[in-house]
Amino acid sequence: MDPSTLPAWNKLIELAAINDQTTIAQLFRADASRVDSMSLDLSLAGIEMIVDFGRQNVSNEVLAALLELARETDLEGRRELLVSGAVVNQSEGRAALHLAERSGHSNEDASKFAESVRSGEIKGAGGKFTHVVNVGIGGSDLGPALIYDGLRDWGQPMLEARFISNVDDQSFLRQTSGLDPRTTLFIFCSKSFGTAETLSNARRVRAWLTAGIEEAAVPRHCVVVSSAPQLAGAAGVNADHRFVTPTEVGGRFSVSSAVNLVNEIAFGTTAIAQFRAGMAMIDGHFVSAPLARNAPVLMGLISVWNRTFLGRQSRALVAYLDALASLVPFIQQLEMESNGKRVRDDSSPVSFSTGPVVWGGVGTDAQHAFMQLIHQGTDVIPVDFVGVSRSAGRRNDELIANMEAQAQALAIGRSLDQVRRSGVEESMARHREMPGNRPSTSILLRELDPTSLGALIALYEHSTFVQGAVLGINSFDQWGVELGKEVAREVLEKMSGTSVAQPTEVSQSPIVAWHLRQSK
Ligand code: F6P
Repeated sequence: MDPSTLPAWNKLIELAAINDQTTIAQLFRADASRVDSMSLDLSLAGIEMIVDFGRQNVSNEVLAALLELARETDLEGRRELLVSGAVVNQSEGRAALHLAERSGHSNEDASKFAESVRSGEIKGAGGKFTHVVNVGIGGSDLGPALIYDGLRDWGQPMLEARFISNVDDQSFLRQTSGLDPRTTLFIFCSKSFGTAETLSNARRVRAWLTAGIEEAAVPRHCVVVSSAPQLAGAAGVNADHRFVTPTEVGGRFSVSSAVNLVNEIAFGTTAIAQFRAGMAMIDGHFVSAPLARNAPVLMGLISVWNRTFLGRQSRALVAYLDALASLVPFIQQLEMESNGKRVRDDSSPVSFSTGPVVWGGVGTDAQHAFMQLIHQGTDVIPVDFVGVSRSAGRRNDELIANMEAQAQALAIGRSLDQVRRSGVEESMARHREMPGNRPSTSILLRELDPTSLGALIALYEHSTFVQGAVLGINSFDQWGVELGKEVAREVLEKMSGTSVAQPTEVSQSPIVAWHLRQSK
């Protein structure tokens, strides 16, 4: 079914055409209940989080039309297919089973292993492990790295974790700097166990380990987490311990699976059980709350409104806590690899815009970097503000005041008359005008702990699903990454002089030739 043929879709196009006639300020003036009707305090459901959509360009009429579009596209039916384990990833003929991972049942062996490492029952050539290094990329890196960074201040990790993802020798040296091969554990995390970067880094790790421990001891220092662990040996990774992740759990949706083993070792299984419980609480909200009071449903529908109907090509994500700096790259993969599509799940081409470009940074630093464009630029860029009320044992008044100020300033702005009345000379007044009417969503957690971090991630997972479901696209495949991988192999073969296959495309660029003139 092409959603753009539905009555609600046409209604939304009509509403988008007159969107500029009503400002966010006017929406609040016209409806005293808007503060409550457009926000969801999830603490009533035991989730210490509030989500506020009030400063979005969404009138009651637009909201009604978005909810009608959800009904006409059978969002609830698609949600049921997801939850029931039906095939929702049509191009790969798979279900998407990340919700089932919240129970941790398929992860029990990995959890036992994590506790054995923490207790010292499982140890390396030099005794108890002191460091654990996750070697993976994309969903095999971004989620684990976000959780490690996000929880480091909440709970002192027993082992320091480090992350190797890129094929960058300098980065490898930095990430292994100061580590003792005899007490360092490496987790080779790769769903396919065919990702070139991870296999390349596995070779770097092997050379690094054998420089410090006996060859025979290497398997004690290696763990494999994969849907295809049987491929590890052929890739030169001999590991004493292997843990399987279900093929039906996509990389960018895998944080509740054994992909998170590095954090079970760093923080312990209780903390990661709390993390999964936080995800499950949002799952419960997502599957049971009425669509009109459903946080991930509203997030997803409003993202579709901004991107597809109002033509706003990107969405900024600004996290007001340094510990959430890794949230942006994680959500980038989650949303852009899921919904950066141009073909519907029935294989017909889309006739509308699909996923937004997701970018952003950390507040308040963003206020001294890119917020200028968001306030006064020629494009309207919706913002997700994510804040944490309390950390380090006290309330984050300065951070939250700045986050709230940005949302208010974007929504209300400062008119030319206000600028003139403030005494700014006429010739300079236009430079000081702040157009306002610029949308944002504010998400506030009470604290950043395993439960709330799990809830935050699940919120975005389900919003991502809602966007794809309403647009009729498959959010669970990623064929767009394949060509780059093929060409990289060919270019590398050309560089090493082992090129056997004809290049996919003869590049007109002088880059490789120039590069090859540099000394090895
Ligand atoms: O970016 C493409 C991709 O397949 C992602 O979907 C995935 O998270 C990443 O590469 C790593 O894949 P793997 O876990 O199979 O190494």
